[in-house]
Amino acid sequence: MTRTIWFLTSNAGKLKEATHHLQPLGYTVRLLNVDEGAIVEPQVDTLEEVAQSKITQALNHLPEGEQSEDMVLVEDAGLFIDALNGFPGVFSAYTLDTIGCSGVLRLLNHLQSEDTIQCAQLRSAEFQAVAALWMNGQILYGNGICPGWIALESSGDDGFGFDPVFIPNDLDEFGEPLPSGTYGEKSAHGKTFGAMPIEEKQYYSHRSRALNDLLRQLPSA
Ligand code: IMP
Repeated sequence: MTRTIWFLTSNAGKLKEATHHLQPLGYTVRLLNVDEGAIVEPQVDTLEEVAQSKITQALNHLPEGEQSEDMVLVEDAGLFIDALNGFPGVFSAYTLDTIGCSGVLRLLNHLQSEDTIQCAQLRSAEFQAVAALWMNGQILYGNGICPGWIALESSGDDGFGFDPVFIPNDLDEFGEPLPSGTYGEKSAHGKTFGAMPIEEKQYYSHRSRALNDLLRQLPSA
C-alpha cells in the first residue's frame, strides 16, 4: 500500500513538482485543500519557522488528524539579496505584492557596472527554499539554495514571482552552483528564470534541491 503525502499549497506548479519527485518513490501526493485565509503566514525570522508553523496549522485540516498514518508536506521559499542584508527574505510574498519586481530593481539601481562579473557580484542574491514533512509526529526539513544575481531589467514571460529579475549562477558538471561570473558546464547565459522554460529552471531550482534534500532522509514507501 502506498503512503499518502498531503501537500499544503495553492500553487499547481508546486504540486506537480512534488508529485514528480515523490511518486517514483511510491508516495501518493494529494492536495491538502483548506479554505482561503485558514492558514496564517507567521511573521518570523526564518523559512524553517514559517514551514513549522504551517505544518502545525495544516495538521488541524488532516482528514484523520494527528493519529493519521499519512504525511504532511509544506514548502516555503524566499529571495535573499546580499546588498540588502537578505531582504526581502521571509517577506518575499509581501514585497512582491507591494513594490513588485520593479521596486526591487529600483532598490538596486545604484549597484551597476559595465563589467558583467562585477555587476553580478554587486547584485548577488539567492533563492532559498525549505521543504518540511510531518511524519509519525516528527518534522523532517530539506533545504535548497539557488545562488544568482538580480538582473538590470526585467525580462521573460515565463515563471512567476521574482523570476523575471533573477539570473541563476552557472552549474558545474555535477550540477552544483558555481561562484558568480564563473562559466560552467550548464549555463543560463545571463537569462533570467522568467526567460527560460520550466524544464531548464528545474536544473537550478532551490525548490527541487530542497525536495531532493528531504528525499535523502525518507525511507521508500
Ligand atoms: P512561497 O512562500 O514559497 O510561496 O514564496 C514566497 C515568495 O517568493 C512568493 O511571492 C514567490 O512569488 C517568491 N518565490 C518563491 N520561489 C520563487 C521562484 O522560484 N521564482 C520566483 N519567485 C519565487
